[in-house]
Amino acid sequence: MGRLFIISNRLPVTLTVEGDDISAKASSGGLATGLSSFYKDAGGLWFGWPGISYDNIDPGTGRKIEKLLREEHQCGSVKLTEEELQKFYYGFSNKTIWPLFHYFTNHTVFDNDLWEAYKRVNQKFCDTVVGEIKDDDIVWVNDYQLMLLPNMLRQKLPNASIGYFHHIPFPSFELFRLMPWRREILEGLLGADLVGFHTYDYVRHFLSSVRRILGYENILGTVSSGYRTTKVDAFPMGIDYEKFSKATRLPEVREEIDKLWRQIGDRKIVVSIDRLDYTKGIKDRLEAFHIFLHRYPEYKEKVTLIMVTVPSRSQVPSYSELKSEIDELVGKINGEHGTLGWMPIWYHFHSVPFPMLIALYSFADIALVTPLRDGMNLVAKEFVATRPTERDGNVGVLIISEMAGAEKEMGEAVMVNPFDHDDVADSLAMALKMPAEEQRRRILPMQKRLQRYDITKWAGDFLDSLDEIKSQQNRLYSKKLSGRLRQDMFERYHKSDKRLFLLDYDGSLKHLVDEPMEAKPDDEVLEILSTITADEKNELVIVSGRDSETLEEWFGHLNSGMIANHGAWIKHKGQEWEMLEPLDNIWMKNIRPIMQLYVDRTPGAQLEEKEFSLVFHYRRAVPEMAQVRVSELKDDLRAMTTSLNLGILEGSKVIEIKNTNINKGNSALRFISKAEWDFVMAIGDDWTDEDMFMVLPGNSYSIKVGLVPSNAKYHLDDVDAVREFLKSLLGLNR
Ligand code: UDP
Ligand code: G6P
Repeated sequence: MGRLFIISNRLPVTLTVEGDDISAKASSGGLATGLSSFYKDAGGLWFGWPGISYDNIDPGTGRKIEKLLREEHQCGSVKLTEEELQKFYYGFSNKTIWPLFHYFTNHTVFDNDLWEAYKRVNQKFCDTVVGEIKDDDIVWVNDYQLMLLPNMLRQKLPNASIGYFHHIPFPSFELFRLMPWRREILEGLLGADLVGFHTYDYVRHFLSSVRRILGYENILGTVSSGYRTTKVDAFPMGIDYEKFSKATRLPEVREEIDKLWRQIGDRKIVVSIDRLDYTKGIKDRLEAFHIFLHRYPEYKEKVTLIMVTVPSRSQVPSYSELKSEIDELVGKINGEHGTLGWMPIWYHFHSVPFPMLIALYSFADIALVTPLRDGMNLVAKEFVATRPTERDGNVGVLIISEMAGAEKEMGEAVMVNPFDHDDVADSLAMALKMPAEEQRRRILPMQKRLQRYDITKWAGDFLDSLDEIKSQQNRLYSKKLSGRLRQDMFERYHKSDKRLFLLDYDGSLKHLVDEPMEAKPDDEVLEILSTITADEKNELVIVSGRDSETLEEWFGHLNSGMIANHGAWIKHKGQEWEMLEPLDNIWMKNIRPIMQLYVDRTPGAQLEEKEFSLVFHYRRAVPEMAQVRVSELKDDLRAMTTSLNLGILEGSKVIEIKNTNINKGNSALRFISKAEWDFVMAIGDDWTDEDMFMVLPGNSYSIKVGLVPSNAKYHLDDVDAVREFLKSLLGLNR
């Protein structure tokens, strides 16, 4: 196994450079705090931006910085200039992607200049790291600032294992589609072998955007883009449970707790800790606390809200404006409700060192975590991990927003809608009164879950999946018909005298198209096919789901055999069409109305009636709706078809109902058994061709078009590759 490279915009350490003095402190934010517990033990090297602009860093200081990062922190820097920071970091990352992906369209800016900078800086990350990484290494790219990087790396390192984890929400298609550069972003991500999200909702949203924008389908979360496959899955990020749960015993933490105790006494403490960000719902939280103070005057002088807001992205106007609004609101509430000996809100606008953070978590009675939208939210998890459940008494209450990704794993917490201020205020009062027993009953299962699926398990799971996907891909790639395999096959072809070609048409020789007129064979296909038939050692069979009339019109002039309607009809070279088995189509009268109903309910879908089958076409329907309809239709049909000896066949954007004994395998056998072939080749792209692959003699060449699992022995990437391959075989390329 290769080495592990972690790449993110922000490094786990943030530097300050003053003259010759370089100091480092831990970075804030879930990505940095989460992964930093893990990467050193895993022996990884982390590349990213160390938090300084490189405009005024002279080469000597630059070298010192590099040395410090490498030797003390296992990190390497990506050197961003002030202009890059303005346009890429404060700009496209935090004025475009961050607000849009958190559903804040009012803060979202679309500006081509910022997009160009985003592309350039992603390329800079690529250029910085690519020299260090070898093809068998593992690269783990993190977060929304680097969504183009996976594909950029893929171009340079075709075989590397590349994983991407998205630490923020992936919005629904309705939001994502607003992004003018949506295609490029999706293509960028699909350069990875594995794309991970915190929750299944984000996975669903991403897959839906991939389907609707790029047209790539997925099978159980594996997206196939023809040349490559990418697995998409959910990995809810954990925390370093041991570190947080044990930290409460550290002397420096005890010291901080004592200090708090001396200042606050036995007042109830509500804690709120976030970066200063409009997604965190800080203003709404304050409004809710204000309502609480009005509605529950019995808590006057008995409750303190300790609010830590960590400065963040302050050069972005929506952040600096928020800061002033919060300052004002805190002043207003404290002014209105405070007394000489009591300030309802203790407000801190700075980051807090680790011992203080743990002291706050463990000293508090309630954590109020109410983001308006949050990819995960580790603060909620860290709070739960520090709760003292080993002794009797109060263990604390977590109040969490329904809009935080963490909510999915923290069902025992008190759940609130952060926009419903009354609800938050009432929940706070309810939490303050919650009996100790209930507090324990809620916290304990969450602790167990967090302990089991901690940061190491999370990272291990992600990397194991990446490894597994890479092995699957390698198995597929090893079947790719190229290099030596292709050479051996060409040699065998030339040495043989009796050759059979079973060639599927749509999707194998011809790209799938929406317009029937465009499906007609073009000159290149006809040249390939007629070259095959011109050699008297060859026999060609065109295999298709289309009807015999169409095949006759398109290929009747060729000296070839044909299989129509997925095997219901066959035609041997120079002979008449024959029905493979006498088939009845009486069942159609029962099934037709059901399928018609689904067509009527699915705009863009069509019903095709063939001689012995009914086909539901949904290529032109809205994919989301089609997917739902198709599963409903299959359910309905399954109930009706079993007693009728009918099969449901799924092709590319079609569902076909036909007699079960009609398939391309049975019909192909008629040609296979006709002679002693010394070279048999079958090419096909969809499920209907699998039956054909399965009946081929052992030494045949079965070739699947597209990089997806198949019964075929070999793969070619797509229609263009099939054409190129056949032309080479037939000597047409020269
Ligand atoms: N945190 C920090 N310094 C502080 C306060 C908090 O490093 O002064 C950490 C906190 O422990 C948590 C992270 O910042 O690990 C915040 O992560 P979260 O997922 O809650 O939100 P994000 O900032 O990533 O949006
Ligand atoms: C969130 C993002 C991270 C980011 C962090 C802090 O957790 O997902 O990518 O690093 O916030 O934000 P900053 O802009 O300071 O890096």
